[in-house]
Amino acid sequence: MTELLIRGRILTFVDEPRDIADTASYRYLEDGALLVRDGRIAAMGDHADVAPTAGPDTPVVDHRPNLVLAGLIDAHIHFPQMQAVASYAAQLLEWLNTYTFIEEQKFADEQHAEFIAERFMDEILRHGTTTVAAYCTVHPQSVDAFFRAAQARNMCVIGGKVMMDRNAPPALCDAPQSSYDDTKALIARWHGRGRLHYAITPRFAITSSPEQMEMAAALVREHPEAYVQTHLSENREEIALTRSLYPDAPDYTGIYEHYGLLGRKTLLGHCIHLSEREMKALAGTGTVAVFCPTSNLFLGSGLFDREKLAENGVRIAVATDIGGGTSFSMLKTMDEAYKVLQLRGQRLSPLHSFYMMTLGNARALSLEERIGTLRPGTDADITILDSRATPAMRLRMNTARTLTEELFLLQTMGDDRAVAEVYVAGKPMKTALR
Ligand code: GUN
Ligand code: ZN
Repeated sequence: MTELLIRGRILTFVDEPRDIADTASYRYLEDGALLVRDGRIAAMGDHADVAPTAGPDTPVVDHRPNLVLAGLIDAHIHFPQMQAVASYAAQLLEWLNTYTFIEEQKFADEQHAEFIAERFMDEILRHGTTTVAAYCTVHPQSVDAFFRAAQARNMCVIGGKVMMDRNAPPALCDAPQSSYDDTKALIARWHGRGRLHYAITPRFAITSSPEQMEMAAALVREHPEAYVQTHLSENREEIALTRSLYPDAPDYTGIYEHYGLLGRKTLLGHCIHLSEREMKALAGTGTVAVFCPTSNLFLGSGLFDREKLAENGVRIAVATDIGGGTSFSMLKTMDEAYKVLQLRGQRLSPLHSFYMMTLGNARALSLEERIGTLRPGTDADITILDSRATPAMRLRMNTARTLTEELFLLQTMGDDRAVAEVYVAGKPMKTALR
């Protein structure tokens, strides 16, 4: 048995905040402690109550005055795009064709895939992110590299081989049958192994023929335990091309609907330009719309309509979408989310932002029984945030009076420098990287 006592200012959510004054949505302990035992949280409470329950030789890490949160969760990211981030292009389709589809071809080389996968895991951890839902490339070896790197760190991740059989360079295309066979073998190899989860990943309707969509449909029927991830309605030009490729579908969402790809374990990146009918189709199936603000601004894709999606009952997650996105930081991502919603005339309270990065995304990924909170019994994925990480933050903190002011400062000015430590299943990972 291994134990660790983590002391600090604990913040964990119990529900979605209704507004900025909703103190019932979270628990905050000024001098709190977590007792971590064998990778799980054994106790959470005031330090004075929890400390005596630890063994006499249990090591103690005192993180005061820093905040102790559940590990941050990123619901949509492309691990093979680490070297495509910050590529100068007009919009989505040009960016994909000019940079991304060139970059992803390198992942035919398993050594390259492994090199990037290792750096990817270290980079997200440095940013306080402990769980991602990631796209690999079309190459099965990229998936092996991704899961091996996560497994070596005992991380809870979702990932999958991209299925794409047209409208891309030949070297990046599979075929309907091979994409089915490869996905099937990868699910058998990785899904449910340790903390790893598989996502059936048709890239988007433009790069999947109807024959490949049939294969994706069969995979979803045969593997209800697996996730599904793809892209929906990110960019106007993309939507027009998609409609021309599937002329019988009522709209873009209707394509995925027709192939039975919608559902509670389906994560749809972007969802910017949706009709009322499409939102209702997503809501009716429990499908998750993933908001990727830095990507949507960088690629000029449009402004996510959180209020309308929420009013229609659509489940919502938030994500970086590296390499269309421009930061690995979920703090920076929420900063940009706030600005996108400002342009829409919508408000996003700091409580809501911190909920979305933790319990909100855990719920969207149906993983709230394991991650996203600091509830006893769940896995000890923990992020420690330092609100005084830079001179400018320290100065501003001197005038912050409340917890919500502090959270808003962290979101607005914070990045990887504000992540003092990150624990994966109770093991410190960030300081170990230095
Ligand atoms: N649509 C299809 N593929 C991609 C991708 O790699 N990034 C983004 N942002 N959108 C996509
Ligand atoms: Zn994406």
